[in-house]
Amino acid sequence: MCGIFCITTKIKKDAPARVLEGLKGLEYRGYDSWGIATLSPDSDSTLIDKETGRLTDVETDLVGDVAIGHTRWATHGGVTKENAHPHTSCDGTIAVVHNGIIDNFQELKEKLLEEGHEFKSETDSEVIPHLLENHDFMTVFNMLSGLNAVIALNKNTKEIWAAKTGSPLVVGFGEDENYLASDASALLPLTKRVYFLHDSEAVRITADSVTLFDLETGNKKEIQTTTLEGDVSDAALIGYDHYLIKEVSEQPSVIRAIIQDGREDIERLARVIKRSYGTFFVGCGTAANAGLAGVYMFSRIARRHVNLATGSEFKYLIDFVTRGSLVIALSQSGETIDTIESVKAAKKNGATIASIVNVPQSTLFRLADTRMLLRAGPEKCVLATKSYMAKLSIMYLLAHELIGEYEKANEFLQEVALEVEDFISGARHEQVKALADKLSDKEDLYLIGRGPSFADALEGALKIKEVTYIHAEGFAGGELKHGSIALIEEGTPVVVFAPYDETYDGIISNAMEVKARGAYVIGISPKNHDVFDEHIKVKDIMHASNLVNIVPMQLLSYYMALNRGCDPDKPRNLAKSVTVR
Ligand code: G6P
Repeated sequence: MCGIFCITTKIKKDAPARVLEGLKGLEYRGYDSWGIATLSPDSDSTLIDKETGRLTDVETDLVGDVAIGHTRWATHGGVTKENAHPHTSCDGTIAVVHNGIIDNFQELKEKLLEEGHEFKSETDSEVIPHLLENHDFMTVFNMLSGLNAVIALNKNTKEIWAAKTGSPLVVGFGEDENYLASDASALLPLTKRVYFLHDSEAVRITADSVTLFDLETGNKKEIQTTTLEGDVSDAALIGYDHYLIKEVSEQPSVIRAIIQDGREDIERLARVIKRSYGTFFVGCGTAANAGLAGVYMFSRIARRHVNLATGSEFKYLIDFVTRGSLVIALSQSGETIDTIESVKAAKKNGATIASIVNVPQSTLFRLADTRMLLRAGPEKCVLATKSYMAKLSIMYLLAHELIGEYEKANEFLQEVALEVEDFISGARHEQVKALADKLSDKEDLYLIGRGPSFADALEGALKIKEVTYIHAEGFAGGELKHGSIALIEEGTPVVVFAPYDETYDGIISNAMEVKARGAYVIGISPKNHDVFDEHIKVKDIMHASNLVNIVPMQLLSYYMALNRGCDPDKPRNLAKSVTVR
């Protein structure tokens, strides 16, 4: 949530323009407003350029050899220019960008107001530059409670300071220049040599030095840098109009990457699962839906019970997590605060932590005792698609590894990859596009599935809601008649997931129930049935049905979003990485 970025350079005076570029690579963290600050010898204060709206096509006239920047996802205070970061001290000499929430800001602000400081915004963040008028950076950071990452630029000292607790922050090392960013991916175009700041660490950077401090003691610390993997081109659109369709189309390669080199990680994770007494999947949003699919896979394939808890709720279930428990965090970004806090709480209770994440060196990656990467490559669209597919593939293999059938499952995944590929590149893609034309004006959409397909119903509904803003709800097929069937009217579209398995007869009965009440029934199934008004054929791939069932819904969301004039990559009100509670 919120992206922060900074460059200090000896090379040229183009730091503000480059910070804007860097922010574009972080915009998925928030896109309500943006802002940058720089220093100029001709001015007594910091120079600020900020505005509401997105960064696309934004340019700046500011020049300077140091700049800090921010792209905002509003928490405290509406989307206005005044609330956009950077925020400044009374005399404008100190500029600050901030990611997180300062829990005690009211108290701090009241005191500052009493002392005569003047505030220009409604944000919690603005207390920081005012506090910096009277205290050094580390003292100020220690006064803030909550989970925060802060960069401060001071005209008087010509220094840049940064620190974090909870929210991510990465230092990048260049030639005669250094950088800071809230995500390592934004640094890839500039450098591969980075340092991931730990909680309660502060850093002072100049163009030719980076000094690390322990926030508690104030002592200097040694820095051990890491080399980033990956390539800038992995995150480029190349030939696609939007990241959503690009990333959906990449799913066969993601499955193949896991087939090719996931084995060692999966074997290790399976050993940990076998040793545990009580395993929990924890995740948020799409990651939670993947966890639900995993619960069914583990039950069906490995006859093993796994619990699922959504990240924001897990802390209320923590009492029975003990030393023998295993918590498996599922996350694309590895930075979702509710999942991180769940993991930390479980760790406190003595549980073993495993993480399955997409971003190497992310917080959840580092917090875990055992870890596995999703191998999905950079996912830029706010909607999670290929990372979902990667999680499903991994859980499918994990469940089979637990019963000694890894090879068989791995081979079968080849077939799944082919089916996903065929769906995306063949006639069925066009069929879904045409269906999107029929559904784009609807006000409601319901999705039903039983057993593992319940996860498809939830995830399919989430995709539609996120990007088309149409009301969509997923239900367990059998639950509909316990109340929600009252919502079905003449012409209400209902998507029915009907894989040819033990759920088939039950879900077809549920489809008939809604049809009898006027629903327009769209069946996603290997077999056509009279009850379907529209049949989207998917191959019968048994216990892997989750992997193919979701593809039509991802495509449908994309085309419905385009029809409705919605931005497929940056839906309103959302951010890809949710680092506030
Ligand atoms: C945000 C994103 C979702 C994502 C969820 C969990 O809400 O918009 O697409 O599923 O966070 O993110 P994670 O990075 O933990 O998988």
